[in-house]
Amino acid sequence: MFRIQPLVSVLLCCFTFWFHISFGYLITCSGIVPMRYRNDKVSITDFGGVGDGKTLNTKAFREAIYRIQHLRRRGGTLLYVPPGVYLTESFNLTSHMTLYLARGAVIKATQDTWKWPLVAPLPSYGRGRERPGGRYMSFIHGDGLRDVVISGENGTIDGQGGIWWNMWRQGNLQFTRPNLVEFMNSRGIIISNVIFKNSPFWNIHPVYCSNVVIRYVTILAPTDSPNTDGIDPDSSSNVCIEDSFISTGDDLVAVKSGWDEYGIGYGRPSSHITIRRVTGSSPFAGIAVGSETSGGVEHVLAENIVIYNSGIGVNIKTNIGRGGFIKNITVSQVFMENVRTGIKIAGDTGDHPDNRFNPNALPYVKGVTLKNIWGVKVQKAGSIQGLKNAPFTNICLSKINLHGMTGPRSPPWKCSDVSGAAIEVSPSPCAQLSSPQQSGSCANHF
Ligand SMILES: *[C@@H]1O[C@H](CO)[C@@H](O)[C@H](O)[C@H]1NC(C)=O
Ligand SMILES: *[C@@H]1O[C@H](CO)[C@@H](O)[C@H](O)[C@H]1NC(C)=O
Repeated sequence: MFRIQPLVSVLLCCFTFWFHISFGYLITCSGIVPMRYRNDKVSITDFGGVGDGKTLNTKAFREAIYRIQHLRRRGGTLLYVPPGVYLTESFNLTSHMTLYLARGAVIKATQDTWKWPLVAPLPSYGRGRERPGGRYMSFIHGDGLRDVVISGENGTIDGQGGIWWNMWRQGNLQFTRPNLVEFMNSRGIIISNVIFKNSPFWNIHPVYCSNVVIRYVTILAPTDSPNTDGIDPDSSSNVCIEDSFISTGDDLVAVKSGWDEYGIGYGRPSSHITIRRVTGSSPFAGIAVGSETSGGVEHVLAENIVIYNSGIGVNIKTNIGRGGFIKNITVSQVFMENVRTGIKIAGDTGDHPDNRFNPNALPYVKGVTLKNIWGVKVQKAGSIQGLKNAPFTNICLSKINLHGMTGPRSPPWKCSDVSGAAIEVSPSPCAQLSSPQQSGSCANHF
């Protein structure tokens, strides 16, 4: 017995290894950004920070980060936020730092919206996303940085967005609401083991970035909170999102790349975006591409996704005037339960920044593979509707099973201006995808 045990553990270990390999669990975002150990550590309390939920800590955060920026210790510096509630106005991060939230630490945004700083609109949007002109700076902001980590023991970054949602509802927002966390023009970013709560607008927005890892995060906002997207990689490359739970009032993950003529002019695509082992619930889409895709989106892989109580499972959306491209998109191993529409690919979604958009700037959509998708309580299997002068091509549906409310029957697929193939799809797909000679469309696009 005693001697057999090592053998058993070796076998068990091998089995576990095989299991992990077979089901892909060993594939992670590790390696995209090297994890840094920081020898130099400071605490927000060294700068007068008080975690009583009432004291304003803006000065403490700004001074701590100023110190990190100017002392430039070898290997960077970790800024420790101990347990407690630290109320603060928005602040900028700097390069070579870790913002570390201890268990029970909360960084909470002030409600002084009238004092909130403004920043320039993104060049790829030409204006604020919801109001013309500038936009309120993100609660936690980083521009032109490298080697930044936001991590810890699942402390919370709380945007206290309610006041902003009400301004939106009452129509008295002057500028576009702030994101909770935004990185611009940055590379080598890790966001992990943090809870994001009640963002005023989008939660995590990497824009013009590369090499970004977001993992083990929890993102929460009420179902009726307007535009609280979970994670929006925007004109960014090598972004890896995994092992996270997201439940918000808008799309859970939406890959974007700029808006109409401004996005076309800026011309920066999103590419090599990986999303895996993400679970959550949204009144809109679970996994989305768009609708702002004017700089182009390519090489997106989403796998092992669970979406429940949601509007749409997988949603690829663009519009006339967008231009740009959406190509080489693969979504696989998705389970959905209680969603209104399983899959929707549409060329008529989203608004325009102004009436200067070019109606002849049609999007180019080619090479979308959706495979191994299983759904129960799905009201409508889906629709794939391209544009008359820009049909969507090489669309592949493979091994898709979307059951209705009352058993295996659900309303048929709706398709127009689309070509591609469908293999083992139930309910049976529309005629445009059913011709067997097209099955070449189902070669792996990634
Ligand atoms: C933070 O960064 C923004 C945008 O880069 C800049 O406009 C602002 O002045 C910075 N604020 C502080 C306090 O450094
Ligand atoms: C933090 O949350 C993540 C994701 O939910 C979880 O995997 C991890 O074990 C938690 N870490 C701690 C220290 O509680």
